[in-house]
Amino acid sequence: MRAAGHTAVMASRREPPDSLEFFPTPPWATRALMRHVLPACLSGFHVASVWDPACGEGHMVEVLREEIAFVQASDIFDYGRGYPVADFLDVGTATSTPVDMIATNPPFRPAAAFATKAMTLAPVVALLLRTAWIEGVERYETLFRDRPPTLFAPFVERVPMTKGRWDPKASTATSYAWFVWVRDRHPLAPFWIPPGCRQALTHTSDAVRFGARAPAPLLSAAE
Ligand SMILES: C[S@@+](CC[C@H](N)C(=O)[O-])C[C@H]1O[C@@H](n2cnc3c(N)ncnc32)[C@H](O)[C@@H]1O
Repeated sequence: MRAAGHTAVMASRREPPDSLEFFPTPPWATRALMRHVLPACLSGFHVASVWDPACGEGHMVEVLREEIAFVQASDIFDYGRGYPVADFLDVGTATSTPVDMIATNPPFRPAAAFATKAMTLAPVVALLLRTAWIEGVERYETLFRDRPPTLFAPFVERVPMTKGRWDPKASTATSYAWFVWVRDRHPLAPFWIPPGCRQALTHTSDAVRFGARAPAPLLSAAE
């Protein structure tokens, strides 16, 4: 991953500004991409490398690593997890090694810019977004009319995302979908991500791997 220099200015803080929309992805929602969504639209294309260019604390990318051999990750903000810092939308930010897929859940407002740029860099682009993202005159005119996704895959179940941390017990009224573009492949009929994924694709180790990081221990008065 080749990062443009000036964004490193954000690397010194740990609490992201609200505008970055840091909502970690429940691990099972990423596994649903691998288990159900990609098989429904790749027909034989093997994804051997992936880049999450808005990786946050790694909730999506570390799950992708379970099945994809070569994984890159970066974010505009330094969450202290060791991932490179880069503004994906900066013209100078690109992969130094080409990847088969760019997968992420970008902030809502600039998501169309993420999609457009990602399509120039990888043959497969998978974005996890609110289903409402499929609406909108401006998005239609700038993105969907000429570049409709190969697969629009709404979750049948809700995918609760909470600001700043993954809460396995959270609920939500918001619906989410994977939007996938496969280069040179025409749009397919929508694919409903089947019920049962939340339970079946949640691993018992997820709470330890992806739960909120414990705060630093406080010193007692005796110490
Ligand atoms: C919804 S969170 C997703 C985090 C991570 N992909 C996950 O699944 O847990 C959106 C992320 O986009 C990052 N972000 C926002 N604008 C960005 C930009 N221009 N370039 C790179 N990352 C950006 C935020 O810092 C935040 O970590």
